[in-house]
Amino acid sequence: MCSKSFFFRLLSLSFVFLVPVLSIAQTVTIPIETKHNAIVLKVENGKDVQMVYYGKRLNNSNDYSSIPSKFNTIRDYSGMLNSAFTPSGTRNLFEPAISVVHADGNLSLDLKYVSHNVETYSPNIKLTKIILKDPVYDFSVTLCYQAFLEFDVIKQWSIIEHSEKKPVVLNKFASANLYLNGKIFWLKQFQGDWASEMKPEETLLTHGIKTLDSKLGTRTNLFQPPVFMISMDYPANEESGSVLFGALEWSGNFRFDLEVDPLNNLRIIAGMNNYASAYTLKPKTKFTTPAFISVFSSNGVGEGSRKLHDWARKHQILDGEGSRLTLLNNWEATNFNFNEEKLVELFSQTKKLGVDLFLLDDGWFANKYPRNNDNAGLGDWQVNTAKLPRGVSWLIEEAHKAGVKFGIWIEPEMVNPKSELYEKHPDWVIKQPNRDEYYFRNQLVLDLSNPKVQDFVYESIDGLLSKNPDLAYIKWDCNAVIYNAHSPYLENKSHLYIDYVKGLYSVLDKIRNKYPTIPMMLCSGGGGRVDYGALKYFTEYWPSDNTDPLDRIFIQWEYSYFYPAIASSNHVTDWGNQTIKFRTDVAMMGKLGFDIVVNNLNSNDLLYCQNAIKAYNEVKNTIWHGDQYRLVNPHKNDLASLVYVNKEKSEGIMFSFLVSNRYGAETISPIRLSGLDVTKKYKVEEICLMPGQSSLIDANVTYSGDYLMNIGFNPIVNGARKSVVLKLTEVKK
Ligand code: DGJ
Repeated sequence: MCSKSFFFRLLSLSFVFLVPVLSIAQTVTIPIETKHNAIVLKVENGKDVQMVYYGKRLNNSNDYSSIPSKFNTIRDYSGMLNSAFTPSGTRNLFEPAISVVHADGNLSLDLKYVSHNVETYSPNIKLTKIILKDPVYDFSVTLCYQAFLEFDVIKQWSIIEHSEKKPVVLNKFASANLYLNGKIFWLKQFQGDWASEMKPEETLLTHGIKTLDSKLGTRTNLFQPPVFMISMDYPANEESGSVLFGALEWSGNFRFDLEVDPLNNLRIIAGMNNYASAYTLKPKTKFTTPAFISVFSSNGVGEGSRKLHDWARKHQILDGEGSRLTLLNNWEATNFNFNEEKLVELFSQTKKLGVDLFLLDDGWFANKYPRNNDNAGLGDWQVNTAKLPRGVSWLIEEAHKAGVKFGIWIEPEMVNPKSELYEKHPDWVIKQPNRDEYYFRNQLVLDLSNPKVQDFVYESIDGLLSKNPDLAYIKWDCNAVIYNAHSPYLENKSHLYIDYVKGLYSVLDKIRNKYPTIPMMLCSGGGGRVDYGALKYFTEYWPSDNTDPLDRIFIQWEYSYFYPAIASSNHVTDWGNQTIKFRTDVAMMGKLGFDIVVNNLNSNDLLYCQNAIKAYNEVKNTIWHGDQYRLVNPHKNDLASLVYVNKEKSEGIMFSFLVSNRYGAETISPIRLSGLDVTKKYKVEEICLMPGQSSLIDANVTYSGDYLMNIGFNPIVNGARKSVVLKLTEVKK
């Protein structure tokens, strides 16, 4: 209960911090609108900010003020269930968005509306900032909602600051706190491990909390990626249903709390994981959380992902609207076992194949402890002179002589205990001082919270790039999680998980300041690190080490809900038993690369690859920059089929694959296409045929977009034609 003195203190402080003061009866409605949707916040009853709506935008924005602050008539005892940012320690009875220990040791926080403003960056980008303050403590949170209007994407983050006499400890610090009014909610989440990434699971959320999170420190999405979908009422499908996509712009530990409350509504609290991460915030400093990205679609998951793709290409992924290099990688082909002669031979194979670049993978560095297998050398980024006596610049020259560009692999955040770096700087390594080391792939993680380590990592890359300005591509790998999380450097040991990622981003910022355009692949022992935080610095990601095309169809399918094809590095390898055509066609649904011994291909297969690369170069812009429509879901059918349509709707590239060996598995009926122009006429021709193979598709017939989308087209996929690529071209007559 409030003591008298506490009451007076509260009263006097409220005059200091609550400006402007609203009368109890006054209501403020704050709509955050995009082209089709809106989040609506409301302030009433003593200035609590509540989220009252996330859904389709209303025609008349005055109508938002009529939305009741409590949608549901069942009791909300605390009055805080739909708080726009739920503080803990006062009336709250549910999962908080923020939880603190004040300078005086008190655990309570209340956040009241002070003011809000809207900053307009362009007709399509608006930032709404809402300032909240505690009436008792000099502690404030600014809620930021950045709306990308044309794409219906909303980014949310919070800025926490205080002017208390001593530091405040933040025990929880969400980026976003959403509230969805609904009846029932379906969660689609993803689970995986090395070589089995992005396995979807869809469940009905029941009362209580479902938490999706990661505590791995680095490569945090090894088991679970920082993305999810919530369907309202029924599991959304490609073209219908209301669905919210969520993703965190953060490459470290994340946490999504999904809580169905007693009113049957869904509370979503998303942000960095607070696990072992209590953060001590000094007075007058800002703690800015990473952004939570959401997009709402009332027309199914297809529309939701196309919005996300368009937004990501324009605003998030480095050079998302640009071009990409096709390549030949040597990891699957040679592993660590190569020398200059072998590489020069591979350069000419790269040229023979017809791709743009040769990518030299792991194994080119370290001398005292040469990197000839995965238990030594990480951290010693000097060229291995036994293998490559003439160095990287000589290799680049030789690649150029062969007519191809040259790229290189690096894993700069890591160290092998068997390395000179470890010998010289054991204090740069994340490990417990008084416990045995524990390894992931024989390696440990460098302490990127330490500015000296950040400089070392930056200089390792800057050294490579400045000495070799013609390096055309970097594959940045990250193969270990953080075990024994302990920073020898940090005073506050519980800052490690967060400061590691901040350290990583500051290295990447420096790299991108100096080298803004060099393409970089985000790789992590397979698809252990794909997120919209890292993709600001990277042009593409590696979805999985599993390149068996059958598995890849499923893995790429699921990633495609969140990330556009231009960012998906797909390599043709010798994994799986499928034909070269099947393998190449699957890899074409993204950024095409190869990791095979070209000279081992028979002449037919080689010719197929060469022709497929030429065909790919003609259609890649539609795959990279067009709209993707998933047509037949391989999880539910014997077939996978999807089409990429360019923005002018004059070209479509349709891929169809047989994913079952069962008797009778084939396309028995036409597949209805999507995304075409009903009024246009299209020629449908089969491309990427094996040499000598004639097509069963008559390219002389034209069809209207109307016909193709309502009646459909049978690509004739069966046991003899397991992979079919069709090109639809507008015929102007
Ligand atoms: C893991 C990556 O996923 C592979 O492609 C390869 O680069 C190896 N690391 C190299 O160690």
